[in-house]
Amino acid sequence: MRMSEGGGGRQGLGPTGAASDLVRGIVERHRSLEGPLLSVLHTVQDELACIPPECVPIIARGLNLSRAEVHGVISFYPLFRTAPPGRKVIYVCRAESCQAMGGIELEAHAKKRLGIDYGGTTADGELSLEPIYCLGNCACSPSVMVDGRLHSRVDARAFDQLIGR
Ligand code: FES
Repeated sequence: MRMSEGGGGRQGLGPTGAASDLVRGIVERHRSLEGPLLSVLHTVQDELACIPPECVPIIARGLNLSRAEVHGVISFYPLFRTAPPGRKVIYVCRAESCQAMGGIELEAHAKKRLGIDYGGTTADGELSLEPIYCLGNCACSPSVMVDGRLHSRVDARAFDQLIGR
């Protein structure tokens, strides 16, 4: 799984004519694959930092799918975003070990402190909050990844220090 941060891809390109052409090209390159939709979506997100809703009809038409089918896959997988992320992405582990070791309280604190839910970005565009299911650091739960760096045994106080707020 790629965990690109806010600076990845061509963030901010948006659903312009250039973005539409780029998405058409991606669809064209993946069309011959078996079950190409996920590959197309990952590539679009890598390039644009998100999958702008305006690109859904282009993808649907190109792959001979309905818009609802494309939208359904985008909304099913938490990894896909329909708006660009903040400059830093905070991943909070929601898997079993972390949940049992204070992760539930930590995620409630993170949401309250940032004023956003999972999938959201702070109003200043600095921080995005995302769930993740095991960071491979279960022995040091609860785990958080900020800006690509793993942090262990994170409580509310440590979280505030990590985000500098
Ligand atoms: S359960 Fe959170 S790191 Fe594995």
